[in-house]
Amino acid sequence: MILTKEEEDTLAGENGRASSKAMQLLVALGEVMGADRLIPIESAQVSGVSYGNIGDAGMELLEDWSQEGARVKVKTTLNPAGMDLDKWREMGVDEDYHRNQLRIIKAFESMGADITCTCTPYLVGNRPQHGAHIAWSESSAIGYANSVLGALTNREGGPSALAAAIVGKTPRYGLHLEENRRPTMDIDVKVRLTTTFDFSLLGYTIGRIIGSGIPIITGIEHADSDRLKIMSAALAASGGIAMFHVKGVTTGGRRHGTGRERLCIDQREMEISRGKVSSEGEPDLACIGCPHCSPGELRDLARIVKGKKVGSGKGLWVWTSRGVYNLPSVKGYLGQIEKAGGKIFADTCMVVCPLEKAGFAHMVTNSCKAAHYVPSTAKMKSSVTELFSIADRVLEDR
Ligand code: F3S
Repeated sequence: MILTKEEEDTLAGENGRASSKAMQLLVALGEVMGADRLIPIESAQVSGVSYGNIGDAGMELLEDWSQEGARVKVKTTLNPAGMDLDKWREMGVDEDYHRNQLRIIKAFESMGADITCTCTPYLVGNRPQHGAHIAWSESSAIGYANSVLGALTNREGGPSALAAAIVGKTPRYGLHLEENRRPTMDIDVKVRLTTTFDFSLLGYTIGRIIGSGIPIITGIEHADSDRLKIMSAALAASGGIAMFHVKGVTTGGRRHGTGRERLCIDQREMEISRGKVSSEGEPDLACIGCPHCSPGELRDLARIVKGKKVGSGKGLWVWTSRGVYNLPSVKGYLGQIEKAGGKIFADTCMVVCPLEKAGFAHMVTNSCKAAHYVPSTAKMKSSVTELFSIADRVLEDR
């Protein structure tokens, strides 16, 4: 990789130890991946924020970086933490976990990161411009940024995204190059998608079947932002898909012609996927908000819970970002959900918090990504269905 004089100096430690370490990481990554140089980035999204995920070793590493003077050079937002920073007790989080989670947050804060703690940074102020190079490390947000926003990012890990934030640059390879952003497979959708959950199931199905690559999807109507966000999460959960095109909706696939391998998605394939993220038995906890709820999703849920209440022994837990939670326009929706007995958590999610401490056994959700991970992260059963049916499983008339 060719480095500028300034980059060489940073590597040699002339801008401090932390910058040198960050540069070393980026150069090593770039050389392994065949990058020719570093390119400036507009923003970073850093994963590895939950204490439950990174543990003591990760926490101490972040504190070391912070003490060595690491400071971010670009807008940097964070993935969900392991607890709601205010309502952590309501989640069953203990004092030790809470203390350690705050140490992690403090380390990031001292490096200059925004304490957003969300997988939907693009809804709360980190919305890259079309064509901007970025270094993001949250799989659903990566897919959304590449595909819907037209920004350019590889699937970064937490350390490489943080290093990119500190240096303000990332190695130029992979999805930063236009030639690697072309569709690799045509997907013909032969099922009618009517709910947000249908889009999640479609994403999960495509990811399950093709595993990787860049699908270009035809046959989809009414693909709004919330639907693309949940589909993006599912594509990256069952597969490793960091970018997709939707004909007539996203802009990236328009000029890339035809002649690729073609795959049809029919109802049978969708049902196979549903079976993979569904368990037998009656759910006792409904989780909505993977990825974090937008204002529109909170509005829809508030309408559904009106006049109902959470049944005895059941739970309705809703997950969103602090930025959305604090919006005056959603206050009424949050009030409606809480009136029905639902709990709303910010800063965290069902997959990265210690959900097992809440005392539930079986989660139902409209997100295939959440249902994919929760059985292993929280040792709970999981099932999927659309929003109205979820409500039926845990709500009763008031
Ligand atoms: Fe976001 Fe957590 Fe789902 S990070 S995409 S809510 S697993």
